Amino acid sequence: MRIGVLTSGGDCAGLNAVIRAVVKRATLGYGWRVFGIRHATHGLLKRPIDAVELTTDSTAGIMTLGGTILGTTNRGDPFAYPGPDGQTVDRSHEIATGYREFGLDALIGIGGDGSLAILRRLAQLGRWNLVGVPKTIDNDVAATEHAVGFHSAVNAATEALDRLHVTAASHSRVMVLEVMGRDAGHIALTAGIAGDADVILIPELPWSLDAVCAKIESRRAQGRMHSLVIVAESVKAPEGEARTYHDAHGNVRYGGIGEVLAREIGQRTKAETRVTVLGHVARGGSPVPLDRVVGSAFGVAAVDLIAEKRFDRMVAWHDRQVVDVPIEEAIATYRAVDPEDTLVHTARGLDICLGS
Ligand code: F6P
Repeated sequence: MRIGVLTSGGDCAGLNAVIRAVVKRATLGYGWRVFGIRHATHGLLKRPIDAVELTTDSTAGIMTLGGTILGTTNRGDPFAYPGPDGQTVDRSHEIATGYREFGLDALIGIGGDGSLAILRRLAQLGRWNLVGVPKTIDNDVAATEHAVGFHSAVNAATEALDRLHVTAASHSRVMVLEVMGRDAGHIALTAGIAGDADVILIPELPWSLDAVCAKIESRRAQGRMHSLVIVAESVKAPEGEARTYHDAHGNVRYGGIGEVLAREIGQRTKAETRVTVLGHVARGGSPVPLDRVVGSAFGVAAVDLIAEKRFDRMVAWHDRQVVDVPIEEAIATYRAVDPEDTLVHTARGLDICLGS
């Protein structure tokens, strides 16, 4: 058997733990050969195919490394691939046939909901035997409690809050931390609780400037002159729109709500207010133990699914164990924070302002 593995979409910590586990299980457990496809599906677009054989020797020691040894991309949708003249072209057929030309028997795709949706379409087109592994710092893939990378991102955001806490207290300031998470507020909510934030704003819950400023003012009235605010990047500004901008390639990106919030809080409360945008810092660095463990468990389980010839499925974490679900189910919707989520309840119980 020759199996392929690729990482697709934004990088995160823990991808190499998955790759290492796939290699160990496939080579030592089943005697198969494993090939790492470089830069997501772009490797299958190239001729010759851009791939490298992975062995236990070549992957030794990679678990602690952030990012992905295979490279990745969240650009270049194969079905609308950017051409030189600004037009898009459908190059899906070239990628789909790359799998057969390279002689693969199965492919493990490590990606978020967007990448898994694209991989599934390619798999249907090229009759691939596909197994998915969920990863994303946003933790918004449906049907799994953990996606690889989330806990490391939470760790980075929590550490940022811890550091901001000290300087906020020293200067009697309000510190606003803007964190990634795309359309979901999981990072802000989880790190906000762990990092002792006074205000947590997430896109799933309505908020008002009045409520946020009232919280800060009530703390000041009690002699607590500093406050910590964490805001998810897709939270809507007071005028009702999320802060987005177009990058040089025309892609819509979130960014800027932290600055808006800091300015408004400063003007209203007269508190000295500063903003920090954590950005891609949350994606880098060595994976925390939970991402190493979840990534390893997912890698082993993904190879086992191939051995059982159960394809078009994604490994998932559910109720303390690894299970598998149809990829179709995992990509049908994204997992936002449920307003009834236990962590929402926890935050309210800790007297954290959630915006209202
Ligand atoms: O999906 C992961 C993520 O980091 C989001 O949280 C963020 O909105 C986006 O990717 C940033 O994308 P890029 O790496 O293209 O800037």
